[in-house]
Amino acid sequence: MSTVALKDVTKVWPDGTVAVSHVGLDVRDGEFLVLLGPSGCGKSTILRMIAGLEDPTSGTILLNGEPVTDVPPRDRQIAMVFQDFALYPHMTVGGNIEFPLKLSGVDPGPRAERIGDVAAALGIGELLGRKPTQLSGGQRQRVAMGRAIVRRPGLFLMDEPLSNLDSGLRAELRAEITGMTRELGVTTMYVTHDQAEALTMADRVAIMRGGVLQDVGTPTEVYGRPATLHVAAFLGSPRMNLLEASVYVHLDRYVVLQLGEQALHLPWHDIRARAIAHYHGERIVVGMRAEALTPVAPDAPGDVLRGRIRYLEHHGHESLAFLDIGATAIVVDELGKLAAGAVPAGGALRRVGGALQRLAGRSERAAPERPEKVSVLSDPGRHHRRPAEVAVRLAPYPAVSPGHPLAIGVRMDALHFFDDRGDRIDVGWR
Ligand SMILES: Nc1ncnc2c1ncn2[C@@H]1O[C@H](COP(=O)(O)OP(=O)(O)O)[C@@H](O)[C@H]1O
Ligand SMILES: [Mg+2]
Repeated sequence: MSTVALKDVTKVWPDGTVAVSHVGLDVRDGEFLVLLGPSGCGKSTILRMIAGLEDPTSGTILLNGEPVTDVPPRDRQIAMVFQDFALYPHMTVGGNIEFPLKLSGVDPGPRAERIGDVAAALGIGELLGRKPTQLSGGQRQRVAMGRAIVRRPGLFLMDEPLSNLDSGLRAELRAEITGMTRELGVTTMYVTHDQAEALTMADRVAIMRGGVLQDVGTPTEVYGRPATLHVAAFLGSPRMNLLEASVYVHLDRYVVLQLGEQALHLPWHDIRARAIAHYHGERIVVGMRAEALTPVAPDAPGDVLRGRIRYLEHHGHESLAFLDIGATAIVVDELGKLAAGAVPAGGALRRVGGALQRLAGRSERAAPERPEKVSVLSDPGRHHRRPAEVAVRLAPYPAVSPGHPLAIGVRMDALHFFDDRGDRIDVGWR
């Protein structure tokens, strides 16, 4: 059994890069936790600190409730699998899997039994006599996992183990990995930048951006009630439509969400109306996933937005129409760097910060302050605005073409609301 806890963990590299900023996270015994975020957001750094390959700049890591600051990597009962794992080329599959058992002095009898169990669980039983060069990419990855799991670690760390494989194989191995770790009951932290992978595999997902933990929850929770704009923008396909809206309150009647020339009305009895009423006269971000939007008749009553099809995308099982409704979209940039969404950017500012710290007599190793949040709606350098193209699902190959007018019914209960800082407005009701 194994639990992991990160308490206010920060990692600053010697060149001043803040890779991880004040992360707090609890991983439960037997849980499959996926760490998700764009490239460079600090995922690998977190795994490497847990494995003991890097030290945190500040904060504490606990394994099974005990701080591990002074526990060397080999004593942490952790197995790790990387994207660019290497098998021993001169050894057979069986030899590769056996190797860690030999090292830790397990007797030949039990060794053979454990190799057999692991190989059977991974479906590579008939490959034990082959050399790595005689295997496909997927088979090699299974062997790497077998070699890691055969020691029966308390904790399994996987860093983008499927990234080098083609998409069909990735989907197949996803199910195998979760099946295997659940069967063995081993606590697993799995890193990926692929949101679909995270949502299909995880018990819980922890979403990172620029070194900052944005949200933690079950796939249903983080998809259904994303805590921040970045989580909303990162999860789901097609992307959530994020529109700038001006808020006007008609007390006891409704809250108007003005989207360009069109408006939606949130009835006053909707509990979210009170929270949004605080933004009277201001702008917020309204998020609507494609599943909240349905094509309706042009004269349909209720909450309807009207526009013209700008372009269509055909995906076989469905087609997407991108609709110009005369509203403004908020484009959340994808960079994982802190500078992109959180702290003052650039080396110059960092150096000034360092100088100030020295002047103030603070240690160079002191953790930097929590990053400031920047304005989503009025900081053109960081997030940009452009005419919205609202994604709507249609039946496959519909009999419409660009320029065609379309009316879409909006499920008001499925909308998401974010403030100027990118925080969910009705957060806390999960
Ligand atoms: N050894 C290192 N020295 C300096 N910077 C590093 C080092 N390793 C990673 N970084 C930087 O730390 C940040 C986080 O990196 P990483 O944890 O590898 O991100 P991810 O795994 O999410 O792609 C990135 O900006 C990366 O360039
Ligand atoms: Mg990485």
